[in-house]
Amino acid sequence: MTDDVLAVHGGAPLHGQIRVRGAKNLVSKAMVAALLGETPSRLFDVPAIRDVEVVRGLLGLHGVKVSDGADDGELVMDPTNVESASSDEINVHAGSSRIPILFCGPLLHRLGHAFIPDLGGCHIGPRPIDFHIQALRQFGAIVDKTPEGMHLTAPNGLHGTKLELPYPSVGATEQVLLTAVRAEGVTELRNAAIEPEIIDLICVLQKMGAIITVHTDRVIEILGVPKLHGYHHKPIPDRIEAASWAAAALATRGEIEVLGAQQADMMTFLNVFRSIGGQFEVTDARVPRPGVTGVEGGIKFWHPGGELQAVALETDVHPGFMTDWQQPLVVALTQARGLSIMHETVYEQRLGYTEALNSMGATIQVYRDCLGGTPCRFGRRNFKHSAVIAGPSKLHAADLVIPDLRAGFSHLIAALAAEGTSRVYGVDLINRGYEDFEGKLAALGAHVERL
Ligand code: EPU
Repeated sequence: MTDDVLAVHGGAPLHGQIRVRGAKNLVSKAMVAALLGETPSRLFDVPAIRDVEVVRGLLGLHGVKVSDGADDGELVMDPTNVESASSDEINVHAGSSRIPILFCGPLLHRLGHAFIPDLGGCHIGPRPIDFHIQALRQFGAIVDKTPEGMHLTAPNGLHGTKLELPYPSVGATEQVLLTAVRAEGVTELRNAAIEPEIIDLICVLQKMGAIITVHTDRVIEILGVPKLHGYHHKPIPDRIEAASWAAAALATRGEIEVLGAQQADMMTFLNVFRSIGGQFEVTDARVPRPGVTGVEGGIKFWHPGGELQAVALETDVHPGFMTDWQQPLVVALTQARGLSIMHETVYEQRLGYTEALNSMGATIQVYRDCLGGTPCRFGRRNFKHSAVIAGPSKLHAADLVIPDLRAGFSHLIAALAAEGTSRVYGVDLINRGYEDFEGKLAALGAHVERL
């Protein structure tokens, strides 16, 4: 037996309170941004997750001293003595995360060259990096792809440029931001991603001395500056984790208060949650509550009893319904009466996990067609990217193998909602993006044990 297996005794509602910390998809990028400053940065509320460890390791290899600050979750990053690392050392992190690609611009600015290992991240489709490379070349970088990784240089420096992304990619937008802030001249980025995590990264960069304007219609303009300094920043809370626990409350007919969850970043999710029949209450820390003092705000999610209703949905870039909210929510939709539709338009292969749900008694059929909403990039390209979920289905226990981070959490929710004992293999993958999920499960009264 391996200890990467969790026995989940399901069928009982989850009840209680947990807390989410800084968003994984901001924290890791803010850590890379620290490399651009000449003085130390402090990042607060950093969750203890694997992606943070990977970036910490890569920063350390490049001479950034990373230490824990006085506060719980505080990271101090001192980039005073940035230095080159060998490709062998860097390659230790090959395949572990997608964040290393974002080191390109900062390392080119600090060292004049960069080596980027083979990327990792979740296996949810081909996940190309063509937008990143095209953008870097436009800034003046020379990109040399080799079997061991990618070597970059900028013999004539990096210069502002006009770019238009073919699709509002989060990573490519971050790549442009992290490169343009210290490139000479003005950069204009069209069709940029405007996810809250991007706006928070812009806040970090502005604190460092950058000049960035977010115009209407996905246009971002960056005026390069020669030097940046360190920042102090508390990241936006993790809205993907918050929604994952909300879906768990719904699927198990329970009630979970997610401290730290922020309404403004979750509006689209909250509308859907309500349409399905879930209830929530925003406990905003800024609004006094009679008889309650000194309590952190958040959002309480619960199943009000009775039946849930089916919905037709499609995932999209912000302000649409996030692709990372899709998998946990589909588990809750197996409990809704009628036919729900989920059209995944961000990733071409993010519905594979539904097979595991079907093995537990769900009825989910996936299609190549764009079902509902607008035709997307994947229609007629042979990708099964739409799902019809028929419910309600009584879920039963099964042996499950976790394929990727978000699908993994959905497997976990399904096992918690199902009658009987499921064995979930590969649960350590969940630690990539969910801090102390086992501690949180225990706090919510889940019956789980390591095998
Ligand atoms: N794309 C390209 N070429 C590129 C870059 C992207 O074709 O060069 C395509 C992708 O294949 C995909 C679409 O553009 O179809 C969107 O990808 P995007 O670049 O926006 O995604 P990402 O930056 O790689 C981040 C998050 C993902 C999240 C997406 C969408 C991080 C570390 N990852 O990925 O989060 O799903 O944005 O919001 O920030 C997760 O947390 O589990 C996760 C997968």
